[in-house]
Amino acid sequence: MKTIAFFNLKGGCGKTTSVINLGYLLAEHKVSDGQKVLLIDGDMQANLTNSLTDYDIQRRSLYHLLVSEAKLSECLIPVRKNIDLLPSSLLLATIEPRLNKIEDHGTLLKRALSTVKDQYEYCLIDCSPSFNTVTINALAASDAIFIPVQTEFYAVDGVHLLNETLAWVNKEYRLKKEITLLFATIHDRRNNIDKIQYEQLKEKYGSQFMHTAISKNIALVEAPIFKESIFEYRPRSKGAQDYQKLFEEIDHWGGF
Ligand SMILES: Nc1ncnc2c1ncn2[C@@H]1O[C@H](COP(=O)(O)OP(=O)(O)O)[C@@H](O)[C@H]1O
Ligand SMILES: [Mg+2]
Repeated sequence: MKTIAFFNLKGGCGKTTSVINLGYLLAEHKVSDGQKVLLIDGDMQANLTNSLTDYDIQRRSLYHLLVSEAKLSECLIPVRKNIDLLPSSLLLATIEPRLNKIEDHGTLLKRALSTVKDQYEYCLIDCSPSFNTVTINALAASDAIFIPVQTEFYAVDGVHLLNETLAWVNKEYRLKKEITLLFATIHDRRNNIDKIQYEQLKEKYGSQFMHTAISKNIALVEAPIFKESIFEYRPRSKGAQDYQKLFEEIDHWGGF
């Protein structure tokens, strides 16, 4: 199983949208027979969960797994033929004091995932935009870190903070995590600022920066309302074309 964290301390940069759509393409094109993709919602706002499932108050979530109130298998929801979801819940907002009492609390998710590594070929983790114990668990459990970046000034400026954050995680938890790759999202090719920020990312991150940018596209905003990926909702939209192209570029680059 290859585990990929979609991480950025900036909110609204397309983490959740990318997990849904790249996860869908992995399940369609990259998994062998009998294997599946696992999507993990690591954000208490539960956007990934609500984009794929109906609300269920009984549901066990990442919270219950981390505080040992449920086993991983009891929390999983099948959302497509070969995609399972480990949902989030607002309870994650209260988890910090509980986790802090547990020894080795930074690797709880990593240890839980090791029990299902033969059932899933890929695991994508949708991180929250805040730096907390759940985020540390996501980073510690990951083999790769993908950074979606919106092509606007503050967002590009904020990427260097991520390197500092990772340096801190590495030191504190004796890890060796590095940014694997970056890609531009919610991009407007006709806008000069977007163009300048895109070029800056390309110059700064070189081959780690994917050339395919995800354009600003309304169908990508609409699809989760219908609990669909862009490939189910509007397969011919610019959003679908861009995610397909990004998927192929990442695959060719060796990111999957
Ligand atoms: N390429 C895009 N074009 C237009 N809107 C987008 C695009 N990608 C994401 N969005 C919208 O922007 C908002 C933030 O995206 P989201 O994936 O939730 O980001 P994050 O998970 O980083 O907070 C959402 O309303 C989403 O529908
Ligand atoms: Mg999100």
